[in-house]
Amino acid sequence: MEVIKKVALKAYNSFGISALAENMVVCSSTYDVTSLCHALRNEKVYILGGGNNILFDGDFAGYIIKPEIKGIEITAEDDETVTLHVGAGEDWDAFVEYTVKNDWGGLENLSLIPGTVGASPVQNIGAYGAEVGNAIVSVEGVRLSTGQTFVVSREECRFGYRDSIFKNEMKGDAIITYVNFRLTKKPVANISYAPVREAMSRRNTETIQAVREEIINIRNSKLPDPKVQGNAGSFFKNPEVPAEVFERLRAEYPGIPSFPLANGDVKIPAAWLIDQCGWKGKALGKAAVHHIQPLVLVNNGGATAGDILALAGKIISDVKEKFGVELAMEVNLVR
Ligand code: EPU
Repeated sequence: MEVIKKVALKAYNSFGISALAENMVVCSSTYDVTSLCHALRNEKVYILGGGNNILFDGDFAGYIIKPEIKGIEITAEDDETVTLHVGAGEDWDAFVEYTVKNDWGGLENLSLIPGTVGASPVQNIGAYGAEVGNAIVSVEGVRLSTGQTFVVSREECRFGYRDSIFKNEMKGDAIITYVNFRLTKKPVANISYAPVREAMSRRNTETIQAVREEIINIRNSKLPDPKVQGNAGSFFKNPEVPAEVFERLRAEYPGIPSFPLANGDVKIPAAWLIDQCGWKGKALGKAAVHHIQPLVLVNNGGATAGDILALAGKIISDVKEKFGVELAMEVNLVR
C-alpha cells in the first residue's frame, strides 16, 4: 500500500474540478483497508469511489482512500437465482454488462450509471424504475474508526430514495470492500418507466439484453457524457412533498408532473421545477444547466466549485420563490 503525495484530483471527479489532495492511498484488499484504518485513526479521510457524485470544494488536506478491490465470484446458485460477491473497485457498468450477458436479471435498468460497485449501495443508485438495494443481499466493509470488519444486511442498509445507512449512521465511517448481490435466472423485463416501455414497444423482444440497449440509448440521448462535459449526473434530488402541498401546486400549475409515493407524499421532478424557472440551458460564469436534462449542472470548462455552487444557489432560491419547494443537493460536497 502506497501513499501518494500531492495528487491532482481533476482526473478523479467527473465534474472535472481542479483540486489537490495532500495524500491518496489505494487499497486492493480487505487487509489493506484494515491496516489503513489503524494507521489513519486520527486523520481526516474521504473514501472515493468513481468520483461521479461529488464536488471537490477546494483542496483536500487529509487522505483520499481509493478502494480498488476487484473480483466477481459466484457464492451460491440454484435454479432460480445466483448470488455474487463483487469487489468494491469493480466498474459498475462493466459488472452490469457481465450480468446481462449471463442473462441474470435485476440490474439491467441500472445500465450505464457511472461509478464503482462499492459506491452503488451508498446512495442506493436508481434509474428507470429500479433501485440497486432490491438486488443487494448484504454489504461488507471495514469501520474506519475501529478497523473492525462489518457485514450489513439489506434490511439493515435501510435503503430509501438515494439513501442508506451509509449516508446516515455510518456516514464517513464505512469503507465498503464487497457487495453481495442476488439476481434472478428467470428475468422479466422491468418496463414500468414510460420511456423504457415506449422504446421496448418498438422491438419484438422483451429480453433484458434489449432493455439494457434501450436504456443505454435513452441515457446517451439525455445525459451529458462526463468525458466530454464535466458533470455529476443529477445535481439535485427530486423533492417529495405532502399531498396537500402538491394539490395546492397543481391548482396553480395543472401541468405539473408527479409520482405518487407509498407513504402518501408526492415526488415532483426537479427537472420540471428548474425548467419552469427558465434555467434550462442557461449559464452562470463557467457553470451551466444542461440544455436537455436541467437536473444536471455542467462544467463549461474551468469551473470551480464556487461557480457550480453559485449557480445551484440561484436555482434553489428561484424554485423556492416560485413554488415554495426546497431543492436538496444530491451531489456530495467534499471539503
Ligand atoms: N422534465 C422537464 N423538463 C426537462 C426534462 C425533464 O420538465 O427538460 C420533467 C419531465 O416531466 C420528465 C421528468 O422531468 O418526465 C423526469 O425526467 P427524467 O425522466 O429524465 O428523470 P428525473 O426524475 O429527472 C431521475 C434520476 C436520474 C435517472 C432518471 C431515470 C434523480 C435525482 N434522478 O431523473 O438519475 O437517470 O430519473 O430514472 O432521481 C442521477 O442520479 O445522476 C440520475 C441521472
